[in-house]
Amino acid sequence: MCGIVGVITAEGGVGDVLSKALKRLEYRGYDSVGVATVNENKLYIKKDKGKIDEVNERLNLTDVPGRTGIGHTRWATHGVPSKRNSHPHGDCKNRLAVVHNGIIENYSELKERLTRNGHIFLSDTDTEVIPHLIEEKLNSGLTGFHAVLEAVKELKGSYAIAVLIADHPDKIYVARNESPLVIGVKNKNYVFCASDIPAFLPITNQVIFLYDGEVAELSLEGVVIRNLNGEVVEREVLEVDLTPEMAKKGGFPHFMLKEIFEQPKALKNTLRIDERKLIEVCKILSESNRIVFTSAGTSFYAGLCGKYFLANISRTGSEAVISSEFDEIMKNIIDERTTVVAISQSGETSDTISAAKYAKRFGAKIISISNTVGSSLTRLADATVYTQAGPEIGVAATKTFLVQLGALSLISSKLAEFKGVITRDEYKTLLNDLNTIPEIIQLILDKTEGEVKASTEAYYNSTSILYLGRGISSAVAMEGALKLKEISYIHAEGYAAGESKHGPIALISTGFPVVFVAPMDSTHNKIIGNIMEMKSRGARIISVIEEGDEEIKSISDTVFRVPKTSDNFFKQIVYIVPLQLFAYYIAVRKGLDPDKPRNLAKAVTVA
Ligand code: G6P
Repeated sequence: MCGIVGVITAEGGVGDVLSKALKRLEYRGYDSVGVATVNENKLYIKKDKGKIDEVNERLNLTDVPGRTGIGHTRWATHGVPSKRNSHPHGDCKNRLAVVHNGIIENYSELKERLTRNGHIFLSDTDTEVIPHLIEEKLNSGLTGFHAVLEAVKELKGSYAIAVLIADHPDKIYVARNESPLVIGVKNKNYVFCASDIPAFLPITNQVIFLYDGEVAELSLEGVVIRNLNGEVVEREVLEVDLTPEMAKKGGFPHFMLKEIFEQPKALKNTLRIDERKLIEVCKILSESNRIVFTSAGTSFYAGLCGKYFLANISRTGSEAVISSEFDEIMKNIIDERTTVVAISQSGETSDTISAAKYAKRFGAKIISISNTVGSSLTRLADATVYTQAGPEIGVAATKTFLVQLGALSLISSKLAEFKGVITRDEYKTLLNDLNTIPEIIQLILDKTEGEVKASTEAYYNSTSILYLGRGISSAVAMEGALKLKEISYIHAEGYAAGESKHGPIALISTGFPVVFVAPMDSTHNKIIGNIMEMKSRGARIISVIEEGDEEIKSISDTVFRVPKTSDNFFKQIVYIVPLQLFAYYIAVRKGLDPDKPRNLAKAVTVA
């Protein structure tokens, strides 16, 4: 998730407008920044690694000539944060510059073809294929707009782009597919494009929404939108009524809720992980005789899920060890045939880095799963699978947990094929199942949010809540409990439901709330038994169930329903979503700020 912006101004000072707009988009990514402007048919580019203020101090981003410019604040996906990977990216002859947010899935093939045709690439990014593709179209005689349109037709994946062409100094070309892009206009004085409205909100609240599969030409004279067939599309200008703070949160009251709603997109992007990367990881896994997941907090629960995935899908045994306990547990048993799968959203959690370093000393291989390109953990890993959630600002992890499960599901499925446990066709069926999960989550967000929100009135003043599940749902229950305690300060404990009679059941008295994660899977009958045990002792039962599960509904006080997913191999993944919403709405009902829970930090970089 990066931030892109473009502006044409009649009033001058383009560098200043761009820098301020980028600063307002910094929450979308901040590992490098860059701007390009055009003046008298010449391009000017300034870019570097670092946060906007740091780069501004070094390069003075405001000091760029011209009236037309584009800018970018980066959250790395392909290629580590560095000057050469910073946007804007250009063509071979400095005739154009492009900023991009998204992931180009077919960039390897495009890059190969363009390199064969003599194009020189200067970065490791997927983005750089775009200026070279446009360059080819310009060379073939197409004009600015049509060159961009034809280039975009060749892209697969997600993108919002803004393009500056030296021969057209008064224009910006934009296109989008599955990545956000809005246009802002103010009389004939300003025209903007940006990933998000806050970029230009202090100057104008008059916006034009661009849709997927559309390309537009921006100039002070007006905005022309076309679809990919080249047909002009009429679109009205709307006035938005948002404060800058609300706009930054996409209209949501908190980042946490925004991030919960971003999950379908984040997962979809993560499921685009290159098959070659999966094969690289599977090779390491299949050559090891011990696989250990290690991680902290929410990422630890992802590791627990990983253990179930590997066992159930690829018939591979593994362990999950909390990273702060790693050396004490592993000290006599790591060797060069051990593979440690270190999971960390930030890639900077001290305990997880220490565990990986410790294992490396004994010759173990390290696979990291991280949301942060170039982070410390990824630098010491033998191979890294990147999740694609974009920056997560809410301290409590939500979308990054879900994408970790997505990455682990992919790895486990690929490993099953790699080891010959399943056929290619069976692997494809698993992928199809996985690819429908984002839609199912969208349905939960559309339909279940209301019933979760309404339920909080009955539970917000509880002092303790128990969360139970069986199989992989026990790990989901633990993550649900963690969410609640982190942001609502209600004591919550996640447990394997079968184990609850060996202790936790002593807590139950009339009215004690117990949450059951109860999908329609092989654990269904047994979980009904566990519900009855709790119910008969007076517990109030909250069950997360599949729509139509009348049996569990009839013995529950409250149900959160997820759409029918019986046939989907990965159905358990989605059960975390109602639990995230439950924690969120309880915190809000208690008047707490879910984005900034007391005593917690987003990344714990001290041991
Ligand atoms: C902190 C955060 C948690 C996070 C954990 C691990 O405790 O508050 O939300 O799950 O660190 O972070 P990581 O970046 O390694 O996934």
